[in-house]
Amino acid sequence: MTRVLVVGSGLGGLIAAVRATDAGHRVTLVTKAALSDSNTRYAQGGIAAALFPDDSTDAHILDTLRAGAGLCDPAAVTVLCEEGPARVRDLIRFGVDFDRDESGITRGLEAAHSRSRVLHAGGDATGAAIEAALVATVQERANRAHAQGGDQITIHEHTMLVDLVVDTGRVTGATLLGPNGAQHTVVADAVILATGGAGALYTHTTNPAIATGDGVAAAWRAGATIADVEFYQFHPTALAVPGTPLVSEAVRGEGAVLLSSTGERFMPAIHPDAELAPRDIVARSIAAQMTAQGGDPVMLDATGLGRELLETRFPTITAACLAAGLDWALEPIPVAPAAHYWMGGVATDVWGRTSLPGLFAVGEVARTGAHGANRLASNSLLEAAVFADRAVRALADPTGRHPLFDDATGLDVADTDFADTDLDSGLDASSPSAGMPVDRSTLQGLMWEAAGVHRSGAGLAGAAATLTGWWAVDRAEASVDELETGNLLDLGRLIVAAALAREESRGAHHRADFPDSRPELARPRFSRRREFATRTLVPASSSASEAIAC
Ligand code: SIN
Repeated sequence: MTRVLVVGSGLGGLIAAVRATDAGHRVTLVTKAALSDSNTRYAQGGIAAALFPDDSTDAHILDTLRAGAGLCDPAAVTVLCEEGPARVRDLIRFGVDFDRDESGITRGLEAAHSRSRVLHAGGDATGAAIEAALVATVQERANRAHAQGGDQITIHEHTMLVDLVVDTGRVTGATLLGPNGAQHTVVADAVILATGGAGALYTHTTNPAIATGDGVAAAWRAGATIADVEFYQFHPTALAVPGTPLVSEAVRGEGAVLLSSTGERFMPAIHPDAELAPRDIVARSIAAQMTAQGGDPVMLDATGLGRELLETRFPTITAACLAAGLDWALEPIPVAPAAHYWMGGVATDVWGRTSLPGLFAVGEVARTGAHGANRLASNSLLEAAVFADRAVRALADPTGRHPLFDDATGLDVADTDFADTDLDSGLDASSPSAGMPVDRSTLQGLMWEAAGVHRSGAGLAGAAATLTGWWAVDRAEASVDELETGNLLDLGRLIVAAALAREESRGAHHRADFPDSRPELARPRFSRRREFATRTLVPASSSASEAIAC
C-alpha cells in the first residue's frame, strides 16, 4: 500500500483520489477551499470525446494537433483521444448525467472541432454536474472507510499547499497550512498535484479567485521541470461585466455571431471558420476590434437562437445575463476576452510523472503536451480525467522512471538563472532590502497589459524589470492570501521570462515584434531551477512543524 497525498479537488484530484482508494492505496485529499470549490465547477461547454459513430479517434487527434499550433506532443494527444471515451464512460458510472434526447446523449459543436463531439450536462453546467458527482463518489468512499473503522481516504478542506518536501531529489510529502492557521508536514510515498491553473494572475479571468497556480509554483520551487508557461489561453467571450462570467463557445457553436460596436460581423473577413475559428484567433480578433473601437467590448448576438433554446441549453449564462440586467434573447450582449486556461505547467510524461520522483501532476497544473500552444475547446476536462487515471495506474509501478526532460533527451531545456529573473522569492522568503511588497491587483494589471492577449518585447521587458522589484511575504509566516500572492508573483515572473524568450508568435502567445511563427521554434521549451537536481529542500517551517504520515 502506498501513502498518496492528492492536492486539489477538481476533476483531476477527485478522480485520482477515487482511483487510488479503489486501488488499495491510503489517500489523503487536501483542498484549499471546500471540497466542491474548484475550476472544474465553472466549466460550461463540456467534455470532448470521439464517442459517436460519425466520429473517430483519428479525427479528434487531428483537430487537437491542428489547434495546438505545432507544439503538441503527438504521444500525449494520442493517449488523450484514445483513452478519452473510456474515461467519459467512467464519469457516467460515477453518476454524471450527461444531457440526452430521444436518440441518446446529445452533443454540441465548438470551435476548431471538425465534428460535434462535446458532451454537456445541465445545459451549460457540465463542470458543476461532474464536480457534484465526483464529490459524492469521494465522500461515499470516505464514509464507507470510516464506517469500517479504516482511514483509507481522509479529506482535509481549507488546507493549502505551502511547499513540497524534497529529500535527496525525491518528493516525500508536503508542507500544508491548515484551517487553524498552523503549518504542518505530511509524509507521503507519492504526491499527486491537481491544483489547477492560475487565472488569478490576470485582471480579467473566467476562473474563480482560488485559481492561483499553487501547484506549479510549489513544483517549480522544489526543482521540478516546467514547460510552455508562456502559453496562457484567453477565452474570447467572457461577459463584459464585473466578475467576467464565461459565455461558452458552445453559444457560437449554436450559431451566435460577433458584432462590432456598429453592428457588423468582423470574423468572416478574418478566418474562413469565422466565429468558430481556433480560440486564440477569435480572442485576438476581438481584442483588436476592441482597440479599433476605443476599448469598448464587442457584442455577441445570440438573439437568433430563440429564448427557449437559450434558457434550456444555457441556463447558467442566462442567469449571468439576467444578474447583469441583460436579456440576451432580445439584445446582443457585451463580451471581451479573459484569461481562461494555462497550457503550460509542470512537465509530465504520459503517466503524469514529473521530473521529480514521487511527484505526479494531473489536469491544468500539468503540461502533458496534449494542448500544445492552444488547447482545443473541451479537451481540458478530458485531459484531467485521462491523466489522473494514468497517474494512479503508474503508482503500481514504483520502479517506473520519472522523465528527465534534459538536454540528453533532445529537448530544449533552459536552466533559469534566478540572478537574471529574481525568481527565488518564494523559497528564500522575502528580500525586502530593495523594491516593494507585491500587491495582487497591481500584479494582475501588469500581467494583463504586458503578458495578455497581445504582447511585445518592450512590454515584457518592462514587466520583467517591475516584477524583479517586488517581493512576497515569508512563506513560513504567510496567510493563505499571502501564500497565493507569493505564488502568483513567482508565476508572473516565470511567464514573463518565458514569453520574452519565445521570439515568435504561436497559438496563444502573440508578440507584436515577432508577429509570425518561426518553424525552427516549433518545439516546447522546458525549464527548471538551476542547481536543483540534488538539493534537499527543507520547508522553511520544518523546525516548528509536526510530521504526519498520510
Ligand atoms: C467553453 O464552454 O467555451 C469553455 C470550454 C473550454 O474551455 O474547453
